[in-house]
Amino acid sequence: MFTGDGVKEATAWNTLEELVASMTLAEKAGQMTQAERVDLLKGDVMKYALGSVLSGGGSTPAQNTPEGWVAMVNSFMNESLKTRLGIPVVYGLDAVHGHAIVLNATVVPHNIGLGAIAAGDPQKGAEAAYTAGRITAEEMLATGVPWNFAPVLGVAEDIRWGRTYECYSENVDIVTLMGAGFIKGFQDNGAAACMKHFLGEGQTIDGRNQGNALLDRAGIDRLLPPYRAAIDAGAMSLMPSFSSVNGIKMHESKELLTNVLKDEMGFEGFVISDWGAVMQLSGGSYKAQIANAINAGVDMVMATNGRNNWVTFIRHLQAAVNEGTIPMERVDDAVLRILRFKQSIGMFDSPQIKKAGAVGTDANRAAARAMVSESLVLLRNENNAIAKLSECKRILVAGQGANDIGMQCGGWTITWQGKLGRITKGTTVLEGIQAAVKDKAAITYAGNGKEKGNFDAVIAVIGEGPYAEGDGDRLNNINIRQMDKDMLKEVYAHDCPVIVIMLSGRPMTIGDEYKKWDAFVAAWLPGTEGDGIADVLFGDRDFSGRTPYTWRKTINGEVIYPFGHGLTK
Ligand code: GLC
Repeated sequence: MFTGDGVKEATAWNTLEELVASMTLAEKAGQMTQAERVDLLKGDVMKYALGSVLSGGGSTPAQNTPEGWVAMVNSFMNESLKTRLGIPVVYGLDAVHGHAIVLNATVVPHNIGLGAIAAGDPQKGAEAAYTAGRITAEEMLATGVPWNFAPVLGVAEDIRWGRTYECYSENVDIVTLMGAGFIKGFQDNGAAACMKHFLGEGQTIDGRNQGNALLDRAGIDRLLPPYRAAIDAGAMSLMPSFSSVNGIKMHESKELLTNVLKDEMGFEGFVISDWGAVMQLSGGSYKAQIANAINAGVDMVMATNGRNNWVTFIRHLQAAVNEGTIPMERVDDAVLRILRFKQSIGMFDSPQIKKAGAVGTDANRAAARAMVSESLVLLRNENNAIAKLSECKRILVAGQGANDIGMQCGGWTITWQGKLGRITKGTTVLEGIQAAVKDKAAITYAGNGKEKGNFDAVIAVIGEGPYAEGDGDRLNNINIRQMDKDMLKEVYAHDCPVIVIMLSGRPMTIGDEYKKWDAFVAAWLPGTEGDGIADVLFGDRDFSGRTPYTWRKTINGEVIYPFGHGLTK
């Protein structure tokens, strides 16, 4: 028996179908609307009976703390519970590597690093994915947010794509294993996942973000296992890709969103559109685009281009139903799916007003640190250079990446694109090394590598600055950055072994430069617990990660390290 908290009328339902049948068209349209928090006036959630509110990347309350978040989420929840039917509003955001939008939260390795764990040991990988899910759920619920637009289930096959690091691997089996593992860890701990971005986002021509993928049915079937496993793991929401398949935008592909996903695969959850994606569709008008999206199988629209955009969406949706361009049955199905999702995470059962908890706990940071260690891939190790580090007395640590939390976290950290610097609480690679060697060796740091003196070894950290989505697309240059080349030139002058660590969202094209390195470690985007790197460099544990992506000298060029490569020591 469902009764909404605080409903004005004593209205009770036995089934969700009855609840849908009791809703007005305006209430149904409201339930199918997701608005961004900044596009809302006080009272909007109640007045329009909105189904969902989101935070886009970097969209935080003034007080970016669990208390600040809970106060904000509760304010929207209170409005929704005062509507005629009291259907709770659900808050969603992107926590793709921990609840990284919140200051001082635990930021775990991005999926590319977790994929490296699985490439080395699938069981360990599944466990890491589960742990990442658990940590993320715990810290999201500590801020009152139950719904995460994660995991990405893309299979990145062109590393020029800016979202390569959000994908676990180029290997569909690893993506399948890890996506389901994350969802289990995430939903076993009380939160709700969202599979994304369906389908073919990693197969676009030239790796263009939001580009076009040419896929026959076999090509489509090859990409379905991650979604089948995610549905089996209990995922009840899905986000289509901005990209197209054979020239048809995914957000208006009835073949894929309805015939394949809902009918063939039996997906009973709901489809949430991506950020303003409906406005990219065919039809020539916003109203026609809305009809194309909803009739194709989109159930809720992320209408995020300002307040007028979602208010207009609600108006157009009702008009389209009244004009018969969107059948009422389609709307009823969409609303039923949304309510089924909300029911699946207990939103009709327990009181929805939350209390703040803790983020960035010692236990979660320790678990993230262990994942960092497991994600490292030793690609090259000449003359036992790594083991000899522990015998060194004077070590030069060089490179911007050695001492930059923002660089080791990458995109989707505090802000959408991420940024360099001490952006949140964590331990840099350098700080981890200093703590590991203590007084057993003298550590000198030079960001640009310019340092006189004699050293027994150099640890040089190179890589990429943070980026997200299309801002990370590289058509023809994924080479080592000039500033890193300049730094390497400086450190090569020292007559001692050079150990290179790369912080990157993809296997950068390194040409023949690696032949000058005594050792080469891929650390991916490890997150806040940079000390997990020193734990392996100076500890007594072996390297267990293997590369989840193929490494090439140049774009689509000669392979240096094949998928799955990695040394133990
Ligand atoms: C972005 C991304 C999507 C994200 C959404 C909300 O454009 O494509 O992954 O979930 O908008 O931030």
